[in-house]
Amino acid sequence: MVNAYEHIPVLKYEIGEIFRPVMEQKEPVLVDATVGLGGHAKYMLNLYPHLKIIGIDRDSEAIDYVESNLSEFSERITLAHDTFDRLDEVLGVNKINSVSGFFFDLGLSSMQIDNPKRGFSWRNSDKLDMRMDQADPEDAHEYLNTVDQFQLTEIFRGNSEERYAPLIAKAIIKARAKQNIDTTAQLNEIIKKSIPKGKNPAPIIQRVYQALRIEINHEIPMLKFGLEKAVKYLTVGGIIAVISYHSLEDRLVKYYFKSLTNVPDSILGANLSEVEPNFLSINRNAKAIMPKIEEQEYNSRSHSARLRAVQRIH
Ligand SMILES: C[S@@+](CC[C@H](N)C(=O)[O-])C[C@H]1O[C@@H](n2cnc3c(N)ncnc32)[C@H](O)[C@@H]1O
Repeated sequence: MVNAYEHIPVLKYEIGEIFRPVMEQKEPVLVDATVGLGGHAKYMLNLYPHLKIIGIDRDSEAIDYVESNLSEFSERITLAHDTFDRLDEVLGVNKINSVSGFFFDLGLSSMQIDNPKRGFSWRNSDKLDMRMDQADPEDAHEYLNTVDQFQLTEIFRGNSEERYAPLIAKAIIKARAKQNIDTTAQLNEIIKKSIPKGKNPAPIIQRVYQALRIEINHEIPMLKFGLEKAVKYLTVGGIIAVISYHSLEDRLVKYYFKSLTNVPDSILGANLSEVEPNFLSINRNAKAIMPKIEEQEYNSRSHSARLRAVQRIH
């Protein structure tokens, strides 16, 4: 039965297979760091009957949703309303000091994108909000009406590589001097008027929203800390897999995993087993795994997905 918030889990079968090796561990524990609507979690719990999951999400609506929709698995899933950079706290409360696998499915769930009240979508939202956690103090509305022009330009450029960043930032500052920018419709209008005539505004608006969302939710520093913490708790043989949806995230994951799988020059020739932890890339030739054409056709939100994974080998 399809419900209003059906979220089709991206690269579900690939994720199932990537984590297969850790299911041989005695009591495998997977941290689903972005449990969302529980799509991947449900698939994994069905596939591996002895698997236990710790599901984290910073969005309390997601946690409530999973709690009721995955109630049949309540013995095997523990939920935490938190951010994944706080793994010390989440695992500490649950008295867990080693984990077989970490899964990060970054970005937004359908529930967040499709709910106009959350203000993530330029197409169907109302008030500017964009907070993944409704308890966070600063929303997009407050941010846009207080940030300075230089910072705004840097954010559009840095987070979304938007070439018209200076024009758009300037137009926002000018517009808000006359009237607060409260709604997505107002913001869309400002962006449309600021870019050269004849340019298709849709992808530009999309990039501006993405840049704002990344900033408001501190997505990049959180990802960096989350991955570093995951490494700290991973068992030998354990696996970390990440699905990212834009190049900024994917680049961070790619280079971080590269730093884990590379042996630094200074220790070449040393006994490799003394270099802890040591990781192997699951991606062939460092290439990200992407959804097959059939999946992209079936689920349009999957088309930008990039999957990377590493395994701790000793
Ligand atoms: C793409 S959805 C996950 C969908 C999920 N895999 C499923 O199949 O239903 C991403 C989720 O990650 C959550 N999220 C994003 N950043 C987070 C963070 N730093 N800590 C915890 N949750 C986060 C979002 O609130 C959202 O619910």
